[in-house]
Amino acid sequence: MAETIPHAPSIVDKAIDGKAFAAGLVDRITGASARLRADHGVQPGLAVVIVGEDPASQIYVRNKGETTLRAGMRSDTHRLDAGTSQADLLALIAQLNADAGIHGILVQLPLPGHIDSTAVLDAIDPDKDVDGFHVVNAGRLAVGLPGMVPCTPLGSVMLLKDALGDLSGLNAVIVGRSNIVGKPMAQLLLAQNCTVTIAHSRSRDLPALCREADILVAAVGRPEMIRGDWIKPGAVVIDVGINRVPSADPVKAAEGKTRVVGDVAFKEAAAVASRITPVPGGVGPMTIACLLANTYVAACRANGVEPQPLDA
Ligand code: GUN
Repeated sequence: MAETIPHAPSIVDKAIDGKAFAAGLVDRITGASARLRADHGVQPGLAVVIVGEDPASQIYVRNKGETTLRAGMRSDTHRLDAGTSQADLLALIAQLNADAGIHGILVQLPLPGHIDSTAVLDAIDPDKDVDGFHVVNAGRLAVGLPGMVPCTPLGSVMLLKDALGDLSGLNAVIVGRSNIVGKPMAQLLLAQNCTVTIAHSRSRDLPALCREADILVAAVGRPEMIRGDWIKPGAVVIDVGINRVPSADPVKAAEGKTRVVGDVAFKEAAAVASRITPVPGGVGPMTIACLLANTYVAACRANGVEPQPLDA
């Protein structure tokens, strides 16, 4: 019979349960929002705008709306057809900016090609920009001012602090330099006193860079690109990737069935890492939870109320 090491952590023990953590966070936000309503007569309100019929976006938007309602918040979803002009979209944003019952505005990306996404995102009132994508919020984050922080990096750092406690002095390597994940993640980890490297498609010897990481964040959008032998033993791995690939079962794949994988080869990586976020069920659920957290905080700030701490 094969011998087993009594206390060797299994892959299950190593997996960071983002779904459970997000559920706890949503519960705390729900409680805090109920209190804001009871004490100050303010119900946090989130408006989500979607243009066109992209099926993945439709699912994300439906989930956001349902979770917002479950948290006791107001949820308005504006579904515009794919041919909507940029001027009409900007007019809707101006209307939402002026609506005192709406504290958060999210324009689902990607937008159709005829619309300038940057112009649209920058038309959102920065204090209602619950995605944290506005250039003013990017600037606030860079200089350490309070603002709206992008949800995926915010949720990822919450999971890291829960797994590791103090992050001071740790080497963090982020693979991916997007404005939505890579760059804000770097700012947040710098604020936690990590030594931060942002790697990208032009970085030399990416595997060697990754092997230096105590914290490795994968945000490249390439299925299972990061292999087990790129990971330093004991590192904590945050996999932000959500990639749809053909089913592992060739019969199902032939029928067009798909599955979702991250940017990290999970099994290989889990054998080396101390903790790792699975896909699905890791970072993904934290993104919606942090969207609600940002909406709650925006509603407090708009009404001069100190937000309740949302930590576990
Ligand atoms: N599309 C995919 N993810 C996101 C997100 O976090 N925010 C917005 N606005 N669009 C997205």
